[in-house]
Amino acid sequence: MPETDLRLLPGDMNGMDAIELGCGTGYVSGWMARRGARVVGVDISAEQLRTARRLAEQHRVEVTFVEASAEEVPCPDESFDFAISEYGAATWCDPHVWIPEAHRLLRPSGELVFMSNSTLSVVCSPDVGPAGERLERDYFPLHRLDWRQDGGGIEFNLPVSGWFRLLRDTGFEVVDFFEVQAPSGGDEVNFFVTGDWARRFPSEQGWRARKR
Ligand SMILES: C[S@@+](CC[C@H](N)C(=O)[O-])C[C@H]1O[C@@H](n2cnc3c(N)ncnc32)[C@H](O)[C@@H]1O
Repeated sequence: MPETDLRLLPGDMNGMDAIELGCGTGYVSGWMARRGARVVGVDISAEQLRTARRLAEQHRVEVTFVEASAEEVPCPDESFDFAISEYGAATWCDPHVWIPEAHRLLRPSGELVFMSNSTLSVVCSPDVGPAGERLERDYFPLHRLDWRQDGGGIEFNLPVSGWFRLLRDTGFEVVDFFEVQAPSGGDEVNFFVTGDWARRFPSEQGWRARKR
């Protein structure tokens, strides 16, 4: 699903201060810099940041990379207009910690956009193997998920109502909640879903929220 369809980012980011929480190789940070933003990319992995710095240099984009946890970012309060996480903090950090941290970093009316695995895909995923058509775990207690038996790591997710409540209670207004439908499907497993599953059910979901 290309960004031209998803539209996670504002088209014009001229003069904006933007931060990516869990930037990995930094391609989203690079896109924001190309749109005119002053960008900080935060990641906990020195190795990922080495790759991100190399790619930023190769593609001639200016991004300030910071090695830190997105749960505790060494930047002052209210220093950004836009915060984003594409499978970074949105997947790997405790939402009860990183969502308030993103709120702290944003200026009033600043936007937080994040995207990760859908709640439905997690409920339909067994401890080992791809998502299927059965409910494999309880919905209401969803929070910390341990995929290490399947070669993954510790991830976080919440019931959909839990995400709404957390965002609202933290001081965000939810502007949008979106579920991504794969444009075409096949039998091969990518990450933990088949293309066919992701065409029939949402495997990815995202949020756009504005700081009140
Ligand atoms: C799947 S990548 C996604 C980032 C980016 N969109 C990409 O595809 O390169 C996940 C990133 O989250 C980072 N990460 C995991 N836990 C983190 C934390 N507590 N704080 C900041 N980054 C974290 C990892 O180091 C990794 O670079």
